[in-house]
Amino acid sequence: MLEEVVATRYVTPLREGGSLPGIVEADDLGTYVMKFTGAGQGRKTLVAEVICGQLGRRLGLRVPDLVRMQLDPVIGLAEPDEEVQELLKASGGLNLGMDYLPGSIGFDPLAFAVDPLDAGRVVWFDALINNVDRSWRNPNLLVWHGELWLIDHGATMIWHHNWPTAAQAATRPYDASDHVLAPFDPDIAAAAKTLAPKVTRELLTEVAADVPDEWLVDEPGFEGPDGPDRLRAAYVERLLDRVATTHERIKLGPPTTQRPTQAPAWLRVWAEGKAAK
Ligand SMILES: Nc1ncnc2c1ncn2[C@@H]1O[C@H](COP(=O)(O)OP(=O)(O)OP(=O)(O)O)[C@@H](O)[C@H]1O
Ligand SMILES: [Mg+2]
Repeated sequence: MLEEVVATRYVTPLREGGSLPGIVEADDLGTYVMKFTGAGQGRKTLVAEVICGQLGRRLGLRVPDLVRMQLDPVIGLAEPDEEVQELLKASGGLNLGMDYLPGSIGFDPLAFAVDPLDAGRVVWFDALINNVDRSWRNPNLLVWHGELWLIDHGATMIWHHNWPTAAQAATRPYDASDHVLAPFDPDIAAAAKTLAPKVTRELLTEVAADVPDEWLVDEPGFEGPDGPDRLRAAYVERLLDRVATTHERIKLGPPTTQRPTQAPAWLRVWAEGKAAK
């Protein structure tokens, strides 16, 4: 189970996030990015954050630590912004916290080079979880202490919005042409070889167990007292279906036309030098 903390101070909203996450301090003296259950995107976004975030970390990718975060909306009373007030009011109780990486910067493919093995691992992982939110428009990657960190796994496992057809999703292609790491020659075959054997039923069952029951109750088709556990099992099965063929489904077409222009030569020399290290 994820560690649980209590939010003690709402610091500031992160306006670049569509769901309006906030920087929040907690009773363990930690600072977290809080993702709210009352956000318009709904609680499935938080389920996806937990399953994919925990899975990514267990596969050796860098994902900030996740915690369960209790919120008493009273901590936001001094917040002047009405939108934030409404969000906090709608989110009393259990929310998700992600370790805040102070001083991190958004990943910029023109300024930071990624080697093909690392790029391959991220693209393969995103194909497994069907992440549609790691494009050059919205990379959802941070650079912190010179390393790449993966954030924002809310827009993944799209099949969980329609369980009756979820099994069919396992065969659909994953178009990675828009992926922010596509220009780094991702070594998908190497990633599949090292990562696929690690994605076992046992590992998936462990990561699904980290999702709080509160976010799994009353899902249509999974009602009743054993509903949350049946739903966890459904997440495990659907991911397990995909593992063996994930690399075959990845389509890396020609670069998309709207991609940013090439970096200036001096910046490329610097970035290539970094990749060679
Ligand atoms: N752990 C973190 N440490 C530091 N900054 C973070 C962290 N998590 C998120 N951020 C910052 O907050 C922004 C919004 O976070 P995130 O992308 O998770 O929110 P979202 O509402 O899901 O966004 P989106 O609009 O991409 O759906 C990020 O782009 C990043 O700048
Ligand atoms: Mg984001």
